[in-house]
Amino acid sequence: MLMLGIESTCDETAAAVVEDGRIVHSSAIATQFQLHEKFRGVVPEIASRAHIENIMPVIRESLDMADIALTELDAIAVAHRPGLIGSLLIGVTAAKTLAWSLGKPLLPVDHVQAHLYSVMLAEKGHLIQGKGQEGEALLRSLPSSVTCLSLPAVGLVCSGGHTALYLVNDWLDIELIGSTIDDAVGEAYDKVAAMLGLAFPGGPEIDRLAAAGNPAALKLPRSMLGRDSLDFSFSGLKTAVRYQVFGYQGKERTLDDLTDVEIKDVAASFQAACVDALFKKVSRAVKQFNANSVVMGGGVSANRGLREAFLGLPVPVHAPPMQYCTDNAAMIAGLGYVLCQAGQAASLDLDAVTSSSIPRR
Ligand code: KG4
Ligand code: ZN
Repeated sequence: MLMLGIESTCDETAAAVVEDGRIVHSSAIATQFQLHEKFRGVVPEIASRAHIENIMPVIRESLDMADIALTELDAIAVAHRPGLIGSLLIGVTAAKTLAWSLGKPLLPVDHVQAHLYSVMLAEKGHLIQGKGQEGEALLRSLPSSVTCLSLPAVGLVCSGGHTALYLVNDWLDIELIGSTIDDAVGEAYDKVAAMLGLAFPGGPEIDRLAAAGNPAALKLPRSMLGRDSLDFSFSGLKTAVRYQVFGYQGKERTLDDLTDVEIKDVAASFQAACVDALFKKVSRAVKQFNANSVVMGGGVSANRGLREAFLGLPVPVHAPPMQYCTDNAAMIAGLGYVLCQAGQAASLDLDAVTSSSIPRR
């Protein structure tokens, strides 16, 4: 089954063609970060206007890359929640129009759920550790919701908009077990990067600099929020970096006072504090729910320090291929297939919704 996925929840306009929920034929992304860079954050009105301009060219690009015609598609999946309402509406309207005009099913995908599902994706021709055709055949024969992944899994979604823990009983049976009470971890990365005069989005830059810095240079807090809590907090960490690096009233320093070595040390210390907090909460959740594995997704799951640290968890960890960590439409098409198999197509009055559908346990 060939599924077209459409993603426009925030600031990326994306479309992808995925076969049987796993095999990515194409993944096209029009990024808008240059438009938002000078504001150091996503401006909703600018984002929705850019989606309008990008949506048709991106869908066309995904079909051309996959070398298929619109009429060869079996169904259309769209991320209809959670996100910015003006952004969501562009993708939802495009998807409904295509589904109606082609007479194909419309699948309503939750973007956060899709970030967790992204561990299931593999590029056509690069499947199962480079086993090529043979790997592809094996992948096709596997039921979409199990494969080598042993459930229940603890799921971590860590991005610029979300930082939350989930219990994944099945791809369509996911429960929220913890979330940030203030900032998302990616947002903290972006704010600290701004303090250090680094480019937006700041996560990849901090990740790169952290590798050359001393993680013990600053003593930064790890917010645990109580013995059993699975919630996160990153705003205190951000403030601690601000005061430790730039000083208090009367003793302030500016960016010009920082040496390159100091900037690397701040990046490494900040990253160590984030990774530590995420590691401890995921370990706690694995223990509390007796989980068999961990799945992670979202932009921050591309972080090298985090991926390395997670190898120390007591259960197998599944991370998405790098290109499917940040927002993309392949994960939307992938999970759309699972919904389709479960008979969960939507009607044409599907709404865009700003909140996630995942219930709290
Ligand atoms: O999933 P995503 O593309 O969009 C949201 O749904 O938010 O995630 C973007 C976030 C940004 O905050 C970016 O700084 C962060 O992911 N990010 C990283 C890395 N790559 C992207 N954070 C830390 N390390 C990285 N390597
Ligand atoms: Zn996302």
